[in-house]
Amino acid sequence: MSNSFALTHGEISLRIIKARDAKTVERLVLSNRAWLKPWEATNPHGPTSFDFKSQIRGLLRQLENDEGIPFLILYKGEIVGQLNVANILHGSVSSCVIGYWIIPEVAGKGITPTAVALAMDYVFKVVGLHRVEIDIRPDNEASVRVVEKLGLRHEGLKKNYIHINNAWRDHLVFALTADEVPDGVLNRWLRREVPKIKSRDQKD
Ligand SMILES: CC(C)(COP(=O)(O)OP(=O)(O)OC[C@H]1O[C@@H](n2cnc3c(N)ncnc32)[C@H](O)[C@@H]1OP(=O)(O)O)[C@@H](O)C(=O)NCCC(=O)NCCS
Repeated sequence: MSNSFALTHGEISLRIIKARDAKTVERLVLSNRAWLKPWEATNPHGPTSFDFKSQIRGLLRQLENDEGIPFLILYKGEIVGQLNVANILHGSVSSCVIGYWIIPEVAGKGITPTAVALAMDYVFKVVGLHRVEIDIRPDNEASVRVVEKLGLRHEGLKKNYIHINNAWRDHLVFALTADEVPDGVLNRWLRREVPKIKSRDQKD
C-alpha cells in the first residue's frame, strides 16, 4: 500500500511520518519539554535518545514489517503531534496499541480523540485488526478523557508496565474490539452514541 494516504475529518488529519519530518518533530518535542516529559517513554538502561532521524527510521522499519503505523497528527495542515500504532500482532490476536501526543497550543480542541477515532477505524476496517489498546498513567487526566470520550472500556491496571519519565509506571488499560463499534469509532462519537464507561474508581 502507498504510504502517502491521509485520514481526514474536518481540519484534523493523519498521515504517515517521513524521514524529512525529523526537523519539525524535533522542534516541537524539544520546545515542549515540560508538557511532554511527564508522559514520555524513557530508556530503562540509559539516557533516552533524541535522535529523531533514527527514531523515524525505526518507526518506518516497523511500518515496512507490518508491525506499526507511525502517523503524524495535522491540524489545519500543520504538524501538531504524533499518533503511533505499535505492537501490531496479526493472526489469532490481531491487535495493536496506540500512543499519542500533541503540542499545548492546540490542546483542548478535540484533536486527539478525533485522531484516535480515525486511526482506530483505519486499523479495524482497512488493516483488519480486531482489538486496539491504549495504556495511560492513572494521573494523566487529559489522556484518560480522550479514551472516555471515545468509549473505550477500562479493563484494569498493569503494574509497573512502561518506563515513563525515568521510572516504571502503572498504567490503566483501555480497549475496544471491532465488533463493539460496527459503525465506526468516529461515527459513534459524532452521533453522541458513546456509552458512558464505568468510572475508573468504581469496583467490579
Ligand atoms: C493527552 C493529550 C494527547 C490530549 O489531547 P487533546 O487533543 O487536548 O484532547 P482533548 O481536546 O480531548 O482534551 C482532553 C482533556 O485535556 C484537558 N485540557 C483541555 N484543554 C487543555 C489545555 N489547554 N491544556 C491542558 N489540558 C487541557 C481537559 O481535561 C480535556 O478534557 P475535557 O474536554 O473533558 O475538558 C494532550 O494533553 C497531550 O499531548 N498531553 C501530553 C502528552 C500525553 O499525555 N500523551 C498521552 C500519553 S498516554
